[in-house]
Amino acid sequence: MAIDFDHIVRDALAALGAATDSAALDAWRGTHLGKSAPVMSALGTLGTLPKEERREFGQRANQARQALEQAFEAAAERARAAELERAITAGAIDVTLPGRALARGRLHPAVQTLRRIYAIFAEMGFQVYRSRDVETDEYNFTLLNIPPHHPAREMWDTFYTTTPNVILRTHTSPGQIHVMRERAPEPIRVILPGMCYRYEQITARSEIQFYQVEGLAIGRHITMADLKGTLTAFAHALFGPNVRTRFRSDHFPFTEPSAEMDVECFVCDGAGCPVCKQSGWLEILGCGMVHPVVLENGGYDPREFSGFAFGMGPQRITMLMHKIEDIRYFFANDLRFLEQF
Ligand code: PHE
Repeated sequence: MAIDFDHIVRDALAALGAATDSAALDAWRGTHLGKSAPVMSALGTLGTLPKEERREFGQRANQARQALEQAFEAAAERARAAELERAITAGAIDVTLPGRALARGRLHPAVQTLRRIYAIFAEMGFQVYRSRDVETDEYNFTLLNIPPHHPAREMWDTFYTTTPNVILRTHTSPGQIHVMRERAPEPIRVILPGMCYRYEQITARSEIQFYQVEGLAIGRHITMADLKGTLTAFAHALFGPNVRTRFRSDHFPFTEPSAEMDVECFVCDGAGCPVCKQSGWLEILGCGMVHPVVLENGGYDPREFSGFAFGMGPQRITMLMHKIEDIRYFFANDLRFLEQF
């Protein structure tokens, strides 16, 4: 039987050239080196040949098979290398590309104002004193000269807890008593920042939770002039050196006399605008000389000691400075608001 092995090999190699991935190569191996491949079936017929033909036929068949096997191995190796190359280049990182910028966090607008307030008072020698958010009725009211059932309590709508007499502080003023009782009879110069809570209808102008910064100075010779000088210096540092201030008389049970400090409207320079409601002035804080009863409750003899106190809302100040119209933005966590600061 004459089999043209050269022809078989040539055909098989031509087919191998078209097989470039591992699936095609497997199929090729089945067809050209599998049991029923021409070369293999030729080898299978070896035993049926006359003896004198077997040797030569066997050699030629084996050469053909070896040629196909070697060609297959080489093609498989090339395919493996190409696949590896593809895998590497597909996941490649271009190290020359500029990096993606990380989104940086920033301070909350209320905290920015708080920190400016701390810095201004720190320069004037005021320490920061931290007082508790949860208070007793006694500290929040009674010791501040607001006895039970006194009508002045209506100024502060209160969150009560299920524990009798334990409330959320409605202002930072109870911290005055804490710091006085801790330091008496030493002089005091502190600010007391913190969160306050009021049981109120939430509106554009009032939240149930808000910051206050209290201030307290106690000494032997402190007068109303010190109060006015300190707070005017503060207003100049925060709003600019040329801003005018004015003090209007007011009433708080824990200060006597009591006042409100206004600053000239920095939106219209005092001419009158919607922010200052055409008055030319912005109300910034409440203040006064510490009431003798409060001094005594704090452990200071009011015949020897005097002092001043003030309380302000940093969020309200932030609203004025940035013309923010609604206090609810502060804790709504809307990034469109927060990212502007
Ligand atoms: N505690 C007062 C308030 O919440 C503010 C204040 C503090 C007034 C200190 C005078 C002195 O309204």
